[in-house]
Amino acid sequence: MSSVSMRVARWLTNQWRGASALTLPQQSLHRPPPLSRPLSSRAGVSYPLQLSSVSESHASLYEESLKHPEQFWGDLASRRLRWTKKFDQVMDCDMRNGQFKWFLGGSLNVSENCVDRHAEEDPDRVAIIWERDEPGDTQFITYSQLLESTSRIANVLKREGVKKGDIVAIYMPASPLLAATMLACARIGAIHSVVFAGFSAEALKSRILDASASVVVTADEAVRGGKTIPLKSIVDEAVGGCQCVQRVLVSQRTGAHVPMTPRDLQLEQAMSEVSDSCAPEPLDSEDPLFMLYTSGSTGKPKGILHTQAGYLLYASITQQYVFDYRPGDVYACVADIGWITGHSYVVYGPLCNGATTVLFESIPTYPDPGRYWEMVERLGVRQFYGAPTALRLLLKAGDHHVHKYDRSSLATLGCVGEPLNDEAWVWYHSVVGEGRCTVVDTWWQTETGGISIAPRPSPDDSTPKPGFPMRPFFGIQPVLVDDQGNELHGPNVSGNLCIRHPWPGMARSIYGDHGRFMDTYYRPYPGLYFSGDGARRDGEGHYQITGRVDDVINVKGHRIGTAELESCLDHDPRVAETAVVGFPHDIHGEGIYGYVILKDGVCESDEEVIKGLRNIVRMQIGGFAVPEILMIVPGLPKTRSGKIMRRILRKIAADRHDELGDVSTLADPSVVEKIVQGHTKRN
Ligand code: WT7
Repeated sequence: MSSVSMRVARWLTNQWRGASALTLPQQSLHRPPPLSRPLSSRAGVSYPLQLSSVSESHASLYEESLKHPEQFWGDLASRRLRWTKKFDQVMDCDMRNGQFKWFLGGSLNVSENCVDRHAEEDPDRVAIIWERDEPGDTQFITYSQLLESTSRIANVLKREGVKKGDIVAIYMPASPLLAATMLACARIGAIHSVVFAGFSAEALKSRILDASASVVVTADEAVRGGKTIPLKSIVDEAVGGCQCVQRVLVSQRTGAHVPMTPRDLQLEQAMSEVSDSCAPEPLDSEDPLFMLYTSGSTGKPKGILHTQAGYLLYASITQQYVFDYRPGDVYACVADIGWITGHSYVVYGPLCNGATTVLFESIPTYPDPGRYWEMVERLGVRQFYGAPTALRLLLKAGDHHVHKYDRSSLATLGCVGEPLNDEAWVWYHSVVGEGRCTVVDTWWQTETGGISIAPRPSPDDSTPKPGFPMRPFFGIQPVLVDDQGNELHGPNVSGNLCIRHPWPGMARSIYGDHGRFMDTYYRPYPGLYFSGDGARRDGEGHYQITGRVDDVINVKGHRIGTAELESCLDHDPRVAETAVVGFPHDIHGEGIYGYVILKDGVCESDEEVIKGLRNIVRMQIGGFAVPEILMIVPGLPKTRSGKIMRRILRKIAADRHDELGDVSTLADPSVVEKIVQGHTKRN
């Protein structure tokens, strides 16, 4: 064994207390679980996994991960994953052509790695704690139960003709059946495309069509915050125009009566008719695992494609080391599975590690703003991973909602999706975490597959800095470049955030459009992956994210492309032209501000038109994308060549009228004054 792989091996062994990475601990959560973790099991116990034990080798291992990625990742992949056939080459990657292959020649099955191997060793360990909408309405699903439901769904899919490489669209509420459906796809080599259940019928339809999905899996209704959402009828509306869909599988969440057509099949009924065992299909490391749509700065949403082994390895290692996850912990990532955070950190990462993962169905304010912390106390959660927008909302609701509950089980507090501002960071750290928990502000993207910049693991016990994801994960080398592509070296610089070397979790393509994949990520700065974000490197070499540098708005941690919104608003026959920008929003991070020019001769009032426009966005995309502000304007600030000056529109939306700069070169400078007046009047 080379020195590098020996060091990685030693380091790993340390992390897992002298056991191999997959040996299962004694104290893991079994059914029935303790209502809350006895405090004595925490106090005074020394864990070899203390972050300080990572310290001797973290810096040098980081360097090795960049210099000798083949040995570094090769060693981790062979130790952490179960292979049907061992790979014979670690990587074959080309950053200039956007071709990435990891663990070539190897075959494995992701569902076997996430479920079977844990069910074999410790069948009664709780895999999923399903925290349903009503507090305390909780279900515990063991690894053996998860194996059974995964296998049954896999057999149903097979019976319905789903084969390797087919695409299955999933439009379901947060439930163990959703996780099992994803794993069932993985078991037979089908590619899942989970569509967030907040998207409208139109949005679901366009995603089903883009992927030519043959099967859609849904539920009768979803339940969130005490309200029901009629998922099945949304699916009915969506698949009406989809020739490709052969079958709709409908699971029961509420038991509501929903009309069934010959195309529909009741999922639980079908599961009871098939065998409870299904051999996992050995799949090539680079076979697609799933696609997940995300908005870009131009055109329609793109189906980001991830493959098997590299994604799984990256999700699992980051889940363990960034959150300091230890066997037996109850780990809760409260993100929706409809986004990448849920894929990597509710389902694949933790299950691959044999963890007990909480699946949260509700919202942070139901029945009141103490919900998260009540759940933390009841379940004994040790790692909590949420979104800055929710934290800001809870901060405003008052500390008494936090103080009411015992949070002594908590050790790691994570967040993702948008910058965690200083006030929210301090609140999270001092109020929620009582000053003793580690706050990990994690930066990553749908495209990176897993956490790429985070304060942990770290070379020392240094205190995380408010507002800073801080340091790259193993294998990630952040590079800042200016708009011309010149690399900005040294401390105290800001630029476009790129990554230099390939890493196993990186997206492989955009489904059906590799050209767009290249144009978006690899052509802007040849030889580098371009994230679309800006970042700053401070005097100590730590990274802070400054926000999107493209025309993408980040609302409540959800990416929304301005072009997508504009083309949606343009659908209204009364609209001549629109321009959409983001503006700073106290709670949501950014809000959506739309400027609208109407055609001549529109007789409805502005209010009526605006109401109609909001409705169009709700129907075409979903409620979460409806602009906070829509303003009818007489014109838009354009250069003489006709380009909309979004910079000016952003300043107006942000109430920074005094920073508009020189507008005299515009085709019609007077339009700016009129827009400012309209904006001021609104306020
Ligand atoms: C975009 C990715 C990855 C899971 C959630 C969203 C923004 C993400 C941070 C952070 C500042 C962040 C970026 C990024 N973002 N994490 N810690 N600080 N901004 O996934 O929908 O793919 O969005 O979210 O702008 O590009 P996504």
